[in-house]
Amino acid sequence: TMSIQEKQQRVRELLKERNAVLLAHYYQRDEVQAIADFAGDSLGLSIEATRTDAPVIVFAGVHFMAESVYILSPEKTVILPAIQAGCPMADMITKEKLLALRDEYPGYTVVCYVNSSAEVKAYSDICCTSGNMLKVIESIENDKILMIPDKNLAKFAARHFPEKDIKWYSGYCPTHDRVNAADVEEVKALYPDAEVIAHPECAPEVLALADHICSTSGMSPYARQSSAREFIIATEMGVLYQLRKDNPDKKFYIASRRLLCPNMKMTTLDSIIRSLETMENIITVPEEIRLKARAAVEKMIAIPR
Ligand code: 13P
Ligand code: SF4
Repeated sequence: TMSIQEKQQRVRELLKERNAVLLAHYYQRDEVQAIADFAGDSLGLSIEATRTDAPVIVFAGVHFMAESVYILSPEKTVILPAIQAGCPMADMITKEKLLALRDEYPGYTVVCYVNSSAEVKAYSDICCTSGNMLKVIESIENDKILMIPDKNLAKFAARHFPEKDIKWYSGYCPTHDRVNAADVEEVKALYPDAEVIAHPECAPEVLALADHICSTSGMSPYARQSSAREFIIATEMGVLYQLRKDNPDKKFYIASRRLLCPNMKMTTLDSIIRSLETMENIITVPEEIRLKARAAVEKMIAIPR
């Protein structure tokens, strides 16, 4: 059996042979993030995918993210090493449910969180990520907004824009939604000087305790510029890798041990090696859906971050 270092070396060799790059989300396993060509949040990763010259992209993340890469860069071969790695929140809404919502809320602009299938994006007006949601909402002239699928992200938006009529669907991230205020209070009692940084997928009671709310790529820059020395992190624990690497002089504590997304951990060095050896699993989207979904994603990308 190979050691972690040997496996990492093997991945790097295979990437070179296949003329491929490895993109990894911040929730990926440490040993995967460590050898990625680029690590980032969901928005950063899809933009990076359009910038690379490499014809093959191995995507260490979940299915909707690989789809997003294909939506923007169909000329590239997009490989998802763990084909079962989906997103339970994305699976909570279907095209059929969305069309029923559109009938229920005529005249509303549908803002679709990127944690959704290509098909759902195709029937939405504009996409957003946790990194640009407030700017996306700000850019919309219509005050009637329907946000799908994440109710927590939508409630955060509604608190930020009380003058707008924001409605939402009932979806949520099972990982972020598991954390409650008591969990955060418990860790705060241990580290009273720590600041709380939370992801907007968390429930309102958790966001109410946060000093800063941002996407996974916003956390490290915030910690760097803050005068605080310690931070309590309310998002998937994979982010600790990047936070600690970028801020070796600061301390980071996870708000709850349950902040682990099993889907994000399905990608392993072994599955990456296998995918590069076999060139499986290739992710595509039917062209008709891709073009419609791309319109919603490009509208989002056109808005400065
Ligand atoms: P971001 O990378 O946009 O912060 O998304 C968080 C998430 O839950 C991705 O699955
Ligand atoms: Fe989906 Fe939540 Fe996992 Fe992100 S952390 S992939 S939103 S289940």
